[in-house]
Amino acid sequence: MDREKLTLGIETSCDETAAAVIEGTRKIRSDVVATQIPIHRQYGGVVPEIASRNHILSVMPVINEAIERAAIDKSDIDQVAVTYGPGLAGALLVGVSAGKALAYALDVPLIGVNHLEGHIFANFLASPELAPPFMALVVSGGHTSLVKVEDYNSFSSWGQTRDDAAGEAFDKVARVLGLPYPGGPAVDKLAKEGKPVIDFPHALMKDGNYDFSFSGLKSAVLNYLNSARMKGISVSKADVAASFQAAVVEVLVHKTIDAVKHSGLGTLVMAGGVAANSALNDKLQEAAARCGIKFFFPGAKLCTDNAAMIACRGAYMAEAGQFADLKLNAVPNLNL
Ligand code: KG4
Ligand code: ZN
Repeated sequence: MDREKLTLGIETSCDETAAAVIEGTRKIRSDVVATQIPIHRQYGGVVPEIASRNHILSVMPVINEAIERAAIDKSDIDQVAVTYGPGLAGALLVGVSAGKALAYALDVPLIGVNHLEGHIFANFLASPELAPPFMALVVSGGHTSLVKVEDYNSFSSWGQTRDDAAGEAFDKVARVLGLPYPGGPAVDKLAKEGKPVIDFPHALMKDGNYDFSFSGLKSAVLNYLNSARMKGISVSKADVAASFQAAVVEVLVHKTIDAVKHSGLGTLVMAGGVAANSALNDKLQEAAARCGIKFFFPGAKLCTDNAAMIACRGAYMAEAGQFADLKLNAVPNLNL
């Protein structure tokens, strides 16, 4: 065989049905994402039951397209990696069932992948030179954590959010500002037209505290808007967006740089959907450069949900002999 192993990745944890084929651990052969965003937008957020039903409709066509675009035959697949948590139970079950069925039918090994580890591993696809150890800031719709990646299969949590995730705060604030789902990109865009003139709270800012809290900030934005409405004062939504975003970014940058410094590591990676935020990117990059820290970020396409990152994580797990069996089940609240 003159090629390395082919891993099929499957991802259905939230509102993207995705499949990808990678060769070896880092070479993307295909990366297909069918988004349900337009379907959920009319409800202002993801409706779990609707997400599951649409995954059922899309999962096999998306897998077939990934195989076709990789220019391979189904029978060439050496192993199947699938997200089994964290995420929406019904949505996860669709991918897990498809992954198990394919692994069984093709008689190849199955690998159960943690979605958050997948997000971190998206950085390996984007940056061939990246290797552990490093600190990872994982910021998504459901999670905000600082993770020390000691090796390809060894991670330790340095801190996480005590309430809302960063992406969740973006989505909720966007909603009260009348912006469409998903809120993150909409707030990011609107913030560019405003100035961070409103002083919103920054929680848990003491050095050495790597936990996050965004629910107070979210409430402060709601209170600000309600009180202005009751007093009949008109507010600049762009300034509110810019001020909210600045508060989130300042907290994330401060804690992340503090953690990297204390860890003695010289490398930082960012992962998850909120990593697409332009202000967070700019500020973290600037702060890392100032402190002599190497900074990696997977790029806009690979930082939101996709299956290439799941296949990548799966390929590394397979190298370490970490396989699942056909009893694999969805674990909605899976930790790192
Ligand atoms: O990682 P992801 O695609 O899905 C989860 O695993 O949750 O992250 C989705 C989250 C959503 O909350 C979305 O609003 C946020 O990422 N997001 C952003 C941006 N793009 C996506 N947040 C801030 N700025 C962005 N540009
Ligand atoms: Zn995600």
